[in-house]
Amino acid sequence: MQPDDKICYCFHVSQRKVTNFIRIHQPQVPSQISECNSAGTGCGWCVPFLRKLFENWKLNQPTQIQLTPEEYASQRSDYVRASGRSLPPGATPLTGADVTNDAAVQAAPRSEE
Ligand code: FES
Repeated sequence: MQPDDKICYCFHVSQRKVTNFIRIHQPQVPSQISECNSAGTGCGWCVPFLRKLFENWKLNQPTQIQLTPEEYASQRSDYVRASGRSLPPGATPLTGADVTNDAAVQAAPRSEE
């Protein structure tokens, strides 16, 4: 994956945005990355990748995710289907299969405003 590819498909956050957030805000724990446009707080698929970005930053090492964007999106879809988790409103839809009948695609109900 390239720096401008999305790492969080639920909240449309790129790897570059997260990397810059970490560099500028210097979080103390990986969960603080959620303050970067809510990254990692949807389906949870990207959390291990966000954690790896954090750990490598602590070690002053670059992170290269060895997946194509298509592989990353496909594996996210498999993860969401297997976990039965729902996607937040506005999240990037799942790939593959017939998503119209996919219960995991159903967005979490919005609260009344
Ligand atoms: S892809 Fe980041 S929380 Fe779903």
